[in-house]
Amino acid sequence: MVQPKVLIIGAGLAAFALADRLYQQADVTIITKESIHDTNSKRAQGGIAAAISDDDDWQYHYQDTIHAGNDYNDTYMVEMLTKEGIEGVQELLQSGFPADRDEKGRLCLGMEGAHQNKRIIHAGGDQTGKFLMLHYQQKVLDKINVISHQMVVECLVKEDTCYGVITIDKNDQFHLHIADKVVLATGGCGALYETSSNDPTVTGDGFSIAYRAGAVIRDMEFIQFHPTMLASSMDGNALISEAVRGQGAKLVNQYKRPIMEKVHPFQDLAPRDVVARAITNEEMNGNHVFLDISNITDFNKTFPSITAICENSSIDWRSGYIPVTPGAHFIMGGIQTNENGETNIHQLFAIGEAACTGVHGANRLASNSLLEGLVFADRLAKRILSDPHSARHVPSVAYPKKRDSKKMYLPEKNLLKKYMKRYAGIERNEEGLLKMCNWLESFDLDFQASDLSRNGSREDMEWLHMLTTAWLITTSALKRTESRGAHYRTDFPTSDTKWHRVPIERFKTEVLSNKRLLINH
Ligand code: SIN
Repeated sequence: MVQPKVLIIGAGLAAFALADRLYQQADVTIITKESIHDTNSKRAQGGIAAAISDDDDWQYHYQDTIHAGNDYNDTYMVEMLTKEGIEGVQELLQSGFPADRDEKGRLCLGMEGAHQNKRIIHAGGDQTGKFLMLHYQQKVLDKINVISHQMVVECLVKEDTCYGVITIDKNDQFHLHIADKVVLATGGCGALYETSSNDPTVTGDGFSIAYRAGAVIRDMEFIQFHPTMLASSMDGNALISEAVRGQGAKLVNQYKRPIMEKVHPFQDLAPRDVVARAITNEEMNGNHVFLDISNITDFNKTFPSITAICENSSIDWRSGYIPVTPGAHFIMGGIQTNENGETNIHQLFAIGEAACTGVHGANRLASNSLLEGLVFADRLAKRILSDPHSARHVPSVAYPKKRDSKKMYLPEKNLLKKYMKRYAGIERNEEGLLKMCNWLESFDLDFQASDLSRNGSREDMEWLHMLTTAWLITTSALKRTESRGAHYRTDFPTSDTKWHRVPIERFKTEVLSNKRLLINH
């Protein structure tokens, strides 16, 4: 029997969990812009949240998810995530996933910010992502096709139906991949910011590809900043897991004064946006912030990756203090999908961080993202396999031809990251967001793959994806004239209960044209 051809773009947990669910009945190909090891999932230190202990209940997990999400969550989706997550995690454990257990064989359940119960399943201490990726890769790698080092330029869409993708390789050659189903599992966009926990490859490509294809994008203003990145990290992207605060570490300034005591009833385990802003306030007052880990016994055994990260950056964790600063971590918005991963374009799907199901609201609860990857991969696989499969007519498509067109001028990478941190970061306001929009719009964003000039390259293409996603974030943040969850406007510091979705229009929005503020270099 002919099997449906499914292209999965991206190689994180959602991609591999989907491949695992599909490979027996579908011809699955994973396309990834670097190697299958360059993903955010592999870096996940925290774990997977699920109400699996006897004294927990999906309803408590549901409440915590909505509370962290500032009541902006889609409640139907949250119920699905928290209920189906229990089954998904139990199945994962039964399939041999080596979760951490105590000497009696009982699961060790961790605590993280804004959870009212211990419900975080982890592996290898702080290496859950690495263990999860290994688990799935061992299961499926010899059953699927993997194309590495090809970056998707655009989706082939005709009459609201997706037929495949165009990619560009390291030698700037285009490739055409035709498929029955295309799944964007491209992750988020943390690498658009100067300080980030994300893999450097995570540049928001999926949002740009989907937006150009005509997919609905939403809630891009909600960027979660993780409060505790290593402040003196050599590479600027080392995370110090919230699980460290879950084990009792406290945030203090250089005078050893606890900074969270008067800020929130949950103190150091308050929602991430609250903690990230408290640290930023300390920094704006000229202070430095540290995690006081002096009361955690056997720190190096409980957190082996974090110990190694500190040692690689010459931080003496034995002193009991680790310097920290917030960094971009996760985007709650993205490509709008329903509960089965469907977008508004036929045969184009999205899952994982690239998708916006509404499950995270305005701020994601810690350790809900790996869970989201598992639950929605399972739902999407069922959706894909439920389609009767027959050979379909593919409209004629051609490789884009390189031709002389406008020469693109692209800014330096670090400039974009610096400006995103400054103008579309933890705190935003109209003046900064307008400057950012105008700067972004000074580049030619409205390109097609075939607009790549003779000198255009894969590097240019990645840049254009980055600029496009930065534009989507900035214009969305400009339009939401309230503060909610991870989106904090200093000029509109409170939430407005009337607020709902902000529609994202096409490039060059009206709202920008009457007030032009320019960045002074
Ligand atoms: C962490 O370990 O602090 C990150 C986990 C998450 O973002 O869910």
